[in-house]
Amino acid sequence: MPAGSDCRLVVLVSGGGTNLQALLDASADPSYGATVVAVGADRDDIEGLARAERAGVPTFVRKVDQFTSRGHWDSTLTDTVAAFEPDLVVLAGFMKLVGPEFLGRFAGRVVNTHPALCPSFPGTSGPADALAYGVKVTGATLFVVDEGVDTGPIIAQTVVPVQDDDDVASLHERIKVAERQMLVDTVGRIARDGFTINDRKVRIG
Ligand code: GAR
Repeated sequence: MPAGSDCRLVVLVSGGGTNLQALLDASADPSYGATVVAVGADRDDIEGLARAERAGVPTFVRKVDQFTSRGHWDSTLTDTVAAFEPDLVVLAGFMKLVGPEFLGRFAGRVVNTHPALCPSFPGTSGPADALAYGVKVTGATLFVVDEGVDTGPIIAQTVVPVQDDDDVASLHERIKVAERQMLVDTVGRIARDGFTINDRKVRIG
């Protein structure tokens, strides 16, 4: 992704949207280099959408079950996101896999934040799976989305300890504190400096 002037972000969410909020807060500073131009979701009535509305950012909802097929959902989501002309699409707690049309349209410009140290514990229950496995450290990963499940080239990772008395909620909350910082720092650097990928190795700037 080349470096640009002000980088247009479309953020997709499925839940509370604390990562989105961190991006909204960061982009209030013009020197950050990126602005959230729209927020999309795969469900209604979530705090992530409310956060966007309070910030005056346009929102949209495209639910899979509103469409006759997964492909039709993917195609409509792609067109909806494209209408906002994003430089970068950020999946921030978006609990759906985007499809081939989406990845084709925004090739190399879709990033996802995952609450585990990839390639460990992919999927929708990263903190629970890490806890069940008994790892002593886990964390979060920002990666460029490819057609796999949490398999794309890694842009940044942050490590947090697992405590003996953790449950899934306490561990996920500790991860999310570090994750938000990583997301804001890294998206800002990408926005200002761009990035390249060679043989899976991501270089910013
Ligand atoms: C984040 O921890 C994000 O990494 C995770 O959902 C949480 C969303 O929190 N995403 C996944 O597990 C995707 N596999 P938020 O809604 O408060 O930003």
